[in-house]
Amino acid sequence: MSTPSVLRTAPEYPESQRPPHIHKISRPDAWCKATSLAFLIFEKKDLSRAARFWSDFGLMPVTHTAESLVMRAAGPTPACLVARKARRSRYVGAAFEVPESTDFAQLKRQSGAKDLNRADIPGGGEGVRLIDPDGHEVWLLRRWARVPELALRPALIEQMNALGHLNRVNRTVRPPIEPARIGRLGHVVMQTTDFARMANWYMQHLGLLPTDVQYLPDGSPLLTFFRLDLGRTPADHHTVVIAEGIENRYEHSAWEVADLDALGQGQQVLRANGHRHMWGIGRHVLGSQLFDYWLDDDGFEFEHYTDGDLFTADHEPHYVPFTPGSIWAWGDDAPDTMFPKKTPVMLWKVLKLLIQKRMTVSRLRMLGSVLDTPARPWS
Ligand SMILES: [Fe+2]
Repeated sequence: MSTPSVLRTAPEYPESQRPPHIHKISRPDAWCKATSLAFLIFEKKDLSRAARFWSDFGLMPVTHTAESLVMRAAGPTPACLVARKARRSRYVGAAFEVPESTDFAQLKRQSGAKDLNRADIPGGGEGVRLIDPDGHEVWLLRRWARVPELALRPALIEQMNALGHLNRVNRTVRPPIEPARIGRLGHVVMQTTDFARMANWYMQHLGLLPTDVQYLPDGSPLLTFFRLDLGRTPADHHTVVIAEGIENRYEHSAWEVADLDALGQGQQVLRANGHRHMWGIGRHVLGSQLFDYWLDDDGFEFEHYTDGDLFTADHEPHYVPFTPGSIWAWGDDAPDTMFPKKTPVMLWKVLKLLIQKRMTVSRLRMLGSVLDTPARPWS
């Protein structure tokens, strides 16, 4: 029996072997190399509701006042999420750790970085604030504090039975019914109307390396998964993702949990507490991680994940054609909300991009036809 074309694995070309029509992503010199994604910053109109969602999602509160909320994961850093009280909920930006040797004075001259108030950095340390081309804040932190790790149940991997691998005899699997405890913040994804400018800026200011570049039929990049340059130390397949779209916005962030059972049992807890499930459980193609997506009270997406790919800095970038079906290997079908709907608001946004010459009609047509490609034979 033949396999329908939409179920075939997409080609993945190493940069040195890519077909000639695929544009090579140009990489500027890095002014600085981030070593970790430290925390995300939000403004929230209701901090108590935000704290409830994030606690059920598996984060732990550190401080919670009328004006601010700091949450942490089990890992050794003082925070992984900072929220400030505001009239309107919005994503503010992200903080990254950088080496002690990072020249903040040069970043101030080159990029208009401004000193951060020490009191604004949870756990202390020193830092500067940059603004990316889309207006998101990017904090760079030196000498950030470490705190004792919180106990996490060990991953069940040593107890798993698989064909040909017997690890569990005369014992059972009973993962605790508890939120999917977050070990650490994994990645943040941003949608932008100016992919080239944003990608260039993040590579320049954080030293990010492209791991997988997804391109349109004309060979132009649409979306890139970037990892940290940690040299020989393995880095997550992606820590920052930049995707072209019809608006500049936070797309989602992802948070690592112990294993598949934490993902699944955490889903039960979130469902029981009335939160909005978005998508999962499934396995992504690029990054390979097992995922489960949730929406907070303001509609921001948060992903639980486990079992993602890791690469060292010498791994060559790969190029993969973008199709809706290439987003996930298996699992529930991606919800319709993942893709732009032809509403009056959306059409107005597109029209503005065309009028401002930030998008061409031919690119819009190409994007539309790619997005209309069925992801699966049954969709
Ligand atoms: Fe993700």
